[in-house]
Amino acid sequence: MTDLRALRSAFGRFMTGVTVVTTRDASGTPVGFTANSFSSVSLDPPLLSVCPSRTLSSFDTFATCDRFAVSILAEGQEDVSTTFASFKGDRFATTRWTPDAHGIPLIGGAIAHFSCRTHTRVEAGDHLLLLGEVDSFTHDDRPGLGYLSGRYFSLGLEQAARDPGRINICGAIVEHGAHVLLEPTPTGYRLPHVQLTERRGLRASLSAALAARGLHAHLGQVYSVYNDARTNTHFAWLLGSCTGPVPAGLEAVPTTTLAAQKYTDLSTATMLARFATEAASRDFTLYLGDTETGDIHERP
Ligand SMILES: Cc1cc2nc3c(=O)[nH]c(=O)nc-3n(C[C@H](O)[C@H](O)[C@H](O)COP(=O)(O)O)c2cc1C
Repeated sequence: MTDLRALRSAFGRFMTGVTVVTTRDASGTPVGFTANSFSSVSLDPPLLSVCPSRTLSSFDTFATCDRFAVSILAEGQEDVSTTFASFKGDRFATTRWTPDAHGIPLIGGAIAHFSCRTHTRVEAGDHLLLLGEVDSFTHDDRPGLGYLSGRYFSLGLEQAARDPGRINICGAIVEHGAHVLLEPTPTGYRLPHVQLTERRGLRASLSAALAARGLHAHLGQVYSVYNDARTNTHFAWLLGSCTGPVPAGLEAVPTTTLAAQKYTDLSTATMLARFATEAASRDFTLYLGDTETGDIHERP
């Protein structure tokens, strides 16, 4: 005889996301339940599956519905999951939702929605295997809510917890004719840059940050990428150029004098000395490494 508790635990070792499956009953009242049995099944035709349990109060509705929808919950939507798993009152009164083109509720704040026509129903023991043909869907790239062994987890938060205080600096060596734009500080020059908590979208974030301070630079190749393990900081420097008036807070320093200037840190000094040499031949390399050691890569 199968040990059902052990089997449930063993199934629960499969890491999943969390969805809410919705439809309307015969009287038009919305019904829904939390499900992690969601699976993508086929691209052509577009099919997905979910498994409603026979114990659901809404089982008969799901077993006979012509249409249903699946909403994949986002990180932070544990409350929505709990509502659709255990709240006995009107689950839709306390949740943000919008109807799809057929009036089936789509859960607000979800990272993906699928509106389906019922394709196949397969009797499957104490559950029903319900296949839906997707006729419209939406999605975005926010992280989803995870579920493992009866507990929620969130990849974004796990990563942040594993790497606390990680800082990303993205900046640019912006040429202005035969000069480079530097920011004077009491302890020396530094390059215009932006500090970010994520390593994604560096170029776009930098471009926007520079524009916000009046520096409309054309950003080109990546020039130097390195980590500083001591301060848990990741640096990425791009080459750029601009024309027009020098924005307030920046100084145009002649490129030929870069090696002789004082900087806030050694990495910037080393990088700008290399830049000054390479600017003479316009043959720029790429540095990959950390603050102590790394490689200079020449362009093929
Ligand atoms: C994370 C999670 C995943 C679940 N997955 C399913 C599932 O795939 N199928 C299912 O029938 N019930 C699943 N449940 C349980 C149902 O959500 C729950 O039994 C249902 O909402 C109860 O509704 P009722 O009070 O209307 O019967 C899950 C619950 C949780 C918390």
